[in-house]
Amino acid sequence: MNFKLTTKNIDDINSDLEIIIVIAKDMKHRFVKDKKLLKKVGFGGDHEEICLLAEKDRLYVGSESVKSTDIRPAIAVAIRSLKSTRYKSAKIATYMSHPKCTAVLRGMVEGMILGDYIFDDYKSKRSKKRLENITISIEEYHSHQLDIDSCQRAVDNAIIGAEATNYTRDIVNTPPDDLYPKKMAKLAREMAKDSSLECSILKPKDLRDQKMNTLLAVARASRHAPRVIHLAHKPTNPKAVVTIVGKGLTYDSGGLSLKPSDFMVTMKSDKSGGSAVMGIMKAVSEMNLPIEVHGFIGAVENMIGGDAYKPDDVLVAKNGKTIEVRNTDAEGRLVLADLLCYAQQEVKADYLFDMATLTGACVVGVGHYTSGVMGNRKMATEMVLNAANKISGEMATKLEFNRYLKRSLKSEIADICNISNTRYGGAITAGIFLSEFIDEHHKDRWAHIDIAGPAFVESVWGENPHGASGAGVRMMLRLIEKLARGDAHAEV
Ligand code: BES
Ligand code: ZN
Ligand code: ZN
Repeated sequence: MNFKLTTKNIDDINSDLEIIIVIAKDMKHRFVKDKKLLKKVGFGGDHEEICLLAEKDRLYVGSESVKSTDIRPAIAVAIRSLKSTRYKSAKIATYMSHPKCTAVLRGMVEGMILGDYIFDDYKSKRSKKRLENITISIEEYHSHQLDIDSCQRAVDNAIIGAEATNYTRDIVNTPPDDLYPKKMAKLAREMAKDSSLECSILKPKDLRDQKMNTLLAVARASRHAPRVIHLAHKPTNPKAVVTIVGKGLTYDSGGLSLKPSDFMVTMKSDKSGGSAVMGIMKAVSEMNLPIEVHGFIGAVENMIGGDAYKPDDVLVAKNGKTIEVRNTDAEGRLVLADLLCYAQQEVKADYLFDMATLTGACVVGVGHYTSGVMGNRKMATEMVLNAANKISGEMATKLEFNRYLKRSLKSEIADICNISNTRYGGAITAGIFLSEFIDEHHKDRWAHIDIAGPAFVESVWGENPHGASGAGVRMMLRLIEKLARGDAHAEV
C-alpha cells in the first residue's frame, strides 16, 4: 500500500474509490454526500458498519468517535471489505480530534495497513493485492487547518509501526516445522542486517557456558536446538536504555505434561513474545529513535521424548536458584528465568520489559483481547498501561501481586516450584515466579506483559486478522517513542 498526502480538496483528487468515515452516526455532516441513498439502504453509521455504494464508487464506514482507538478498527474493517473488489486506488479525507493531534491520522493509516493484512503463504492460490494507492487529503472533518509536515511524520510513523506489526504476524503465523529456533535466529540476523541493528546469536554451547540450564532443559527433547537472539539498537547519546525480553517457544506441546489435543493447536503462537521483540527492534531502528534498545529472544521448542525434562526434576537457573519442576507445560517461565538473568547481566537497563504468551489463566481472567501487566512497582507497569490503552490501539490491564499468592510457589525441596499449589490466579503466580529472577538494579524498573490473550485469536477483531495480531509491537513502540520525547509518564 502506498500513501500520498495532499493539500488538494478531496473532490479534486482522482481515484477509483472514495472512503468516508461517518463519525458518531452524524449523517448530516458535509462529508456524507449520499444521505438519501444511505437512508434507503438502512445505513445508520454504527461502529464498524460498512456500506459500499458501487455506482457512486463511495464506501462509507461508521466510527463511534473521532478517537484513534475507534477510527483504527473502523477503517480496517472498511479496507478488509474491499478484498474481492477491483478498486486499485482510494482517497480519503483527514479526521482529527484537535488540529495538533496527529494521533488520529496515524491511527487511520495504521488501520488501513493492519486491516489489509492476510497470511496466505500456504495457499495454492495467493490472493492478488488490489488496493494499492491511497491518497489522503488534509481537508479535515472539523475544518481544522493542518500542518502538512507533521501530518507526513504521522503517516511515516504509522507505516513503520504497522508494517513491523505485520512482520511480527507473519513470523507467528508460520507453522512450527518451518519456523524453529535456528530459523528464527536466521530471520533475526537477516532483519538486523536490513535494519542496521547489532545481532548476536547464542548456540547450545554458548548457552551451556552461560549456565542457562533451565532454558536448555526445556529445549532438550526437541530435534531443533535452541537459540538465544540478542538484537541491539545503539544510537549515540541515548536518552535511556530499554531491554525487552521475549518468549520464543516455536512450539509448545506441553512436554511430558502433554497438552490435550484441543489445547495444543495454535501453540505455534507461543513464539509471539519473541516475534514481537523482532518487530519492535525493526521499527525502533527504522524510526531511528534516540533510545538504546536491546531485544532478547529465547527461541526454544518444548517437545516430548526419551531425553525430555520431567516433572520432579530440579533445575538450577543461571542465577543459582533451584527450581522444582512440577509441570513441564509451565516452560515459558523456565526459559524466561534464564533469559532474564542473561539480559540483565549483559545490559544495565533503565527499563526492563518481558513479553510472553505465558498463561492460559491470563486469557481466562481478562479475555482474548487484553494483555495482563504485572510488576513490583507502579512506574514501569503504568508506563505500559498508558502507552497501550491511550494511544497504541492495544488493550492492557494491571494484575496485582500479593504475598499470599507468592507463598503458593513454595517448594519443599528446592527454592521455588515452577507452578503454584492453587488452581487460581495463574497469571499472577507466573509473574511472581519471574520476579524471582529480576536483580536488585532492575526490580523497580521491570514489567511483565502476558500477551497470551491477544497474541493469537482465531477470529477477526477490529484491525486484527484471524490468527496472529502482532500484540505487543505497537504498545512497546509507543512507549519507546514516548521515552524519546521525554514524556513516558505523561497521561496522553
Ligand atoms: N504457552 C502456554 C500458555 C498459553 C495458553 C498461551 C493458551 C496461549 C494460550 C504456557 O506455556 C502454558 O502451557 N501454561 C500453563 C501453565 C500451567 C501448567 C501452570 C497453562 O496456562 O495452562
Ligand atoms: Zn506450556
Ligand atoms: Zn508456553
